[in-house]
Amino acid sequence: MNILITGGAGFIGSHVVRRFVKNYPDYKVYNLDKLTYAGNLENLKDIDKLSNYKFIKGDIVDEEFINSLFKRIDFDGVIHLAAESHVDRSIEDPLAFVRTNVIGTVNILNAAKNSWINNFKGKLFYHVSTDEVYGSLGNEGLFTEETSYDPNSPYSASKASSDHFVRAYGETYGLPFVISNCSNNYGPYHFPEKLIPLFINNIIEKKSLPVYGDGKYTRDWLFVEDHARAIDLVFHKGKNHETYNIGGFNEWQNINLVKLLCLVMDKKLNRTQGESEKLITYVKDRPGHDLRYAIDASKINKHLGWKPSVTFEEGLEKTVDWYLSNSEWLNHITSGDYKEYYKKMYS
Ligand code: NAD
Ligand code: DAU
Repeated sequence: MNILITGGAGFIGSHVVRRFVKNYPDYKVYNLDKLTYAGNLENLKDIDKLSNYKFIKGDIVDEEFINSLFKRIDFDGVIHLAAESHVDRSIEDPLAFVRTNVIGTVNILNAAKNSWINNFKGKLFYHVSTDEVYGSLGNEGLFTEETSYDPNSPYSASKASSDHFVRAYGETYGLPFVISNCSNNYGPYHFPEKLIPLFINNIIEKKSLPVYGDGKYTRDWLFVEDHARAIDLVFHKGKNHETYNIGGFNEWQNINLVKLLCLVMDKKLNRTQGESEKLITYVKDRPGHDLRYAIDASKINKHLGWKPSVTFEEGLEKTVDWYLSNSEWLNHITSGDYKEYYKKMYS
C-alpha cells in the first residue's frame, strides 16, 4: 500500500507517521508537508532513515504540484492532516486558513478523485478534523456525530467547510471517505503556541501564564498517541462515508488544568510548591471564545473498540517529562520567529 499522510511533520501528523511507519513495514508512507512554522522534521528524526518512509516537501494549495504528485505515485489511501491549526492565528489571518484548510483540502480531494475515478475499490480518503466544527456547548451535553455544525472561529469555519467538501465528494463522485472529529490533543512535539506546551515553556522560563478571560472555559483533553491509535483504527476498520468522534472523556476547566500543570512542574523542577501558580495572569479573552467542548466517543468505542489508554494525570506527566528532557527541541522552536509571534500576541 502507498499511503499519503499530509501534515506529517506537525504535532499529530508526526505521531501518525511514526505509528504507520513502525507498525506497517509493508506500507510505503509518504509524508507531504510544506514545513510551515508548525512543521518540523526534528519530530521524525527517529524514523526518517527507515526504508518505508519518504518525506515530500510541498504545499497542498499548489494545485499543479498536487496533481502531478498523484500522477507520479499511485496512492491507495490518504490521511489528510495538513492544516493551519491555531485558533488565535485564524483570528489574525483568516484567509491563510481558507487557503490551506479549504482550498488545500479540495486540491487533495480533486487529485484523489481524478486518480481513483475508474476504480474506487480499495481506496480511502481519510479526513482528520476537529470537534470545534460543532461550535460551543453550554454546561451540559456532549457532541455526537449527529450534532449540527455551528463553527464560531475562522479556524473552525474553515475546518467545517473542509469536512463538507469531503462529504460532498463522497456523495457526488462516490469517493470513499471517512472523517474523524477529535477533541484537544496534548503530548510530545506539541508546538508551544497551544495552551499546554506554551505554559510548560513559560513555567520553565518563569514567565507569566496568560489565562484568557476568567479561565472557566472547558476542553476535553486526549493524549496524542491515543489519537494516533484511533486514526489507525478508523483508517483500517472505519466504515465508508462515516464520521467518528474521538475524545478523552476528560473535561477540564482551563484554570484547573493550569493549576494541576503548575503542581506537576513544581515537583519536576524541584521548586517550592505554589511557585509556578504565582505566574498565572488573567488576560484579555479570545474573541468568540467557545465556552465548552466535550465529545461523546461512544460510537468509536462501540464499533471499533477504541478508548483512551492513559489517564490525564499519566499523560500530563509523560508530556512534562518529554519537554524537560527535550530542551534542545524546545529551544530550536522558541528562538527566532517564535519570539516575534509571542510579542505580537501577548504584549
Ligand atoms: P500542526 O499545526 O501541529 O501541524 C500542521 C502541519 O501541517 C504542519 O506540519 C504544517 O507544516 C503542515 N501544513 C500546514 N499548511 C500546509 C500546506 N499548505 N501544505 C502542506 N502542509 C501544510 O497541527 P496539529 O495540531 O498536528 O493538527 C493536525 C490536524 O488535526 C489538523 O487538521 C487539525 O485541524 C486536526 N486536529 C487537531 C487537534 C489538536 O488538538 N491539535 C484536535 C483535533 C483535530
Ligand atoms: O478541540 C480541538 C482543537 O483544540 C483543535 O482543533 C485545534 O487545532 C487546537 O488548537 C485546539 O484548539 P483550542 O483553541 O481549544 O486550543 P488552545 O490550546 O489554543 O486553547 C485551549 C484553551 O486554553 C482555550 O480555551 C483557550 C485557552 N488559552 C489558550 C492559550 C494559547 C489560554 O487561556 N491562554 C493561552 O495563552
